[in-house]
Amino acid sequence: MKTFPAMSSFTVSQNVARMQSSATIAAMQAAQALRAAGANVCDFGAGEPDFDTPDNIKQAAERAMRAGHTKYTANAGIRELQSAIIAFYNKQFGAEYEPSEVMATAGGKQAIFNAVVTLLNPGDEALIPKPYWVTFPEIAVFAGAKPVFIETEETDFVLTADQVERAITPRTRLLILNSPSNPSGRVLPPAEFRKIMELTSERGIYVVSDECYLRFVYPPGEVFSAASLPEELRSRLCIAGSFSKTYAMTGWRVGYALAPAEWIKAMLKVQGHSTSNTNSMAQWAAVEALNGPQESVGIMLGEYTKRRAWLLKALSEIPGFKCSEPEGAFYAFPDVRGCLKKDLKTSGDFAQRLLEEEQTVVTDGAGFGAEGFIRISYATSMEQITEGIDRIKRFSKKYV
Ligand SMILES: Cc1ncc(COP(=O)(O)O)c(C=O)c1O
Repeated sequence: MKTFPAMSSFTVSQNVARMQSSATIAAMQAAQALRAAGANVCDFGAGEPDFDTPDNIKQAAERAMRAGHTKYTANAGIRELQSAIIAFYNKQFGAEYEPSEVMATAGGKQAIFNAVVTLLNPGDEALIPKPYWVTFPEIAVFAGAKPVFIETEETDFVLTADQVERAITPRTRLLILNSPSNPSGRVLPPAEFRKIMELTSERGIYVVSDECYLRFVYPPGEVFSAASLPEELRSRLCIAGSFSKTYAMTGWRVGYALAPAEWIKAMLKVQGHSTSNTNSMAQWAAVEALNGPQESVGIMLGEYTKRRAWLLKALSEIPGFKCSEPEGAFYAFPDVRGCLKKDLKTSGDFAQRLLEEEQTVVTDGAGFGAEGFIRISYATSMEQITEGIDRIKRFSKKYV
């Protein structure tokens, strides 16, 4: 086998050197490694639906491929996809967007990336409520800006306008919201969402609202998008959306940004020099996802609802665990500080020992800015959930 000389002269750029690797990807890799070694793994690490992409969506991609839709598209995506996104937001939330205010991206992640790097300069501050999705601070760091975290434990991880107000400084340029939240599953009440948007509008602060879990809200909660706010509160707002979770399309890489035309224009510049456009067949699949039958979304939501109810009850019975009720997404985020005894000092130790002793994967909350918590994804079968909870109970008993 040919060996290559070490790249001794390579030094990573300063901004990338300041970035952290993803804790969620690390948990996924740990599960893969154990599985490859033949272990019977219970995996609560998944950040993606355990359902297959609905067949009508797959068929649309197949038709697109056969019809020769296999070339570059416009950077902003095909007109049909822009129109389908606009129509969805109009029908669901009464919002009016123009094609110049919408772009398709390679997943919601690229929409957030585009939005953040087109806005932030070195020295700017980006407000990020804790616990946060691991990627938010890293993109701000990549842009050379400073993530400023907002503590929300006092309000059970539900952000308030007062908390935002206390964190604002003259350097604050951006606030990143994510409701329903990954990792906490908590949902911002619409009235508080509005108060936050009133505050940021008044102070001239931009907002990225990551609505990747938009449709996964459990009754009595209701689906809420920042798009339903009055237009005057949306002049500095970018909504980042995704097909990944709603339609079980994580591998297809389709998301979108909705923002004022000038901001989209800047994002198109970044995208035009990076990925150009998201995959052409996947764009046609996404058109079908939005315009075609929606039963699959209801079926998935029904299944998550059942699992969630079972899981929350089971978690409440584990000594040392405390778990607020997550109103959305597909995660529970229990506080495990009651189990941090003997040689378990941190939630990282908890996750690591659980993996070693019970072959059960959970994600350490520290990666989301919440030491002492763990994230449990219920995007996995009921069978796995019941077995995994038995293992967690057995493990915790040794410490409490
Ligand atoms: C909060 C949040 N935002 C955005 C994304 C991005 O998803 P995608 O790029 O697959 O659309 C994820 C994926 O895990 C997420 O959890």
